[in-house]
Amino acid sequence: MPYDTIITGGTVVNANKTDKADVAIRGEKIAKVGRGLAKKAGNYGTRIIDAEGCYVIPGGVDVHVHLALPFCGTVSSDDFNTGTRAAARGGVTTVIDFAIPYGSDTLQQAVDNWHAKADGIACVDYAFHIAITNWQKQKRELPRMIKQGIPTFKQFMIYEAEGWQSDDAAMFQALEALRDLDGMLMVHAESSRVLDELIARHHNKREMKKHGAYLHTITRPNFIEAEAIQRAVTWAEATGGKLYIVHMSSADGTDIIAHAHRRGLKNVFAETCAQYLVLDDSLFKGKDGHLYATCPQIKKPADQARLWKGLKAGTVCTIATDTCTFTRKQKGVWKGDWTKIPMGMPGLETMLPAVYTEGVLKKRLTMRQFVDKCCTTPAKIMGLGHRKGAIKRGRDADITIIHPTKRIKVDHRKMETNADWSPLQGRPLAGFARTTLSRGKVVVDKYKFCGEKGWGEFLPRAAPGRI
Ligand code: URP
Ligand code: ZN
Ligand code: ZN
Repeated sequence: MPYDTIITGGTVVNANKTDKADVAIRGEKIAKVGRGLAKKAGNYGTRIIDAEGCYVIPGGVDVHVHLALPFCGTVSSDDFNTGTRAAARGGVTTVIDFAIPYGSDTLQQAVDNWHAKADGIACVDYAFHIAITNWQKQKRELPRMIKQGIPTFKQFMIYEAEGWQSDDAAMFQALEALRDLDGMLMVHAESSRVLDELIARHHNKREMKKHGAYLHTITRPNFIEAEAIQRAVTWAEATGGKLYIVHMSSADGTDIIAHAHRRGLKNVFAETCAQYLVLDDSLFKGKDGHLYATCPQIKKPADQARLWKGLKAGTVCTIATDTCTFTRKQKGVWKGDWTKIPMGMPGLETMLPAVYTEGVLKKRLTMRQFVDKCCTTPAKIMGLGHRKGAIKRGRDADITIIHPTKRIKVDHRKMETNADWSPLQGRPLAGFARTTLSRGKVVVDKYKFCGEKGWGEFLPRAAPGRI
């Protein structure tokens, strides 16, 4: 049977192997990986994609995004259409969003709401985690959610005002329950009571005038994240439940995870995000400093260095974006009060280029480690390894072709995101997707989006936490 597409002449990089090979695609799947496939293809109308001189990698798997999220009094401005267009252009072919219950919503209602946001408009494949916002009320629903292919749940230690906060007892019980159900708990780890106290101390006109958006840094010293991570790790150790720390941003947090691994804990995982690797908190002091407000906030160069080291050593297993886009107008509501800035930033379009440029080209990661952290391990750990994250026969033909050195200056005006700014504006990054394929379909060609609204499908997932 002829192939539909063959990618030829490139260097295929998987997390465990680099090979000069062709990749043959039939329908939505990778049919074969091997040398000389294009030569043998014959004249059957097979589409040949020339990848000579380029890397051919699995499509990126961003396991942490918030598209069209009602948050901080507004709604994040990239929805499942623009967000997944941005993903495709950035070489990311799978995104996992968080379905969050509002008010008295059940988990099922939250999932239904999120399906309604994504159905028919996503351009690459997607899945959901679910936030547990009321343990006592929602715990009975866990088995049903897992049956629907959603085996990962998130609890927030902060965000009391949003109605999202969980306490230690809820976290402890969720870890126990998910241990027995073969699920995994994701935790936003920050110490809420001490954080509230620090915010209250600085929440006055004099301080706000003096420090502006830098108050994000002043009120969130590293121990705010580290103490919370330590607490979550303690409950994971006590229960044996699988714990995944989301958006870890600090050196101190990384040390705690490393220590847990040294003690032999195999059920504790940590993710960082591209912004914590390539941006630092001096940005808060600039004219547009408030734009960079995220939660947790970007930290210091020493934290960046520790996170890179942690990635290399395996302490940090995944890189995501925590994409939660707000426009200048949305960010502008702060009017000098840092507690009012909608927290989050765009990232899907620039994650692979930023990590490639700062990681691979600066020799902080090998090419295979880059693929491992951005594609393979995120897929595996979230129960998608059977379909995504590797260029292997039988896997979905989600493939990104990048040129090793060609740089493109980041310019939000030329991007797919709805953001009218970019945290990386003007940076010349290599590693943009020259070509992206989603389930065999070319969705980016010559660096431009050419995909289709509604092409993206919901991905039911298998058991998580296996890497
Ligand atoms: O600033 C962020 N990260 N916004 C999204 C919510 C969260 O905590 O992940
Ligand atoms: Zn969070
Ligand atoms: Zn998030």
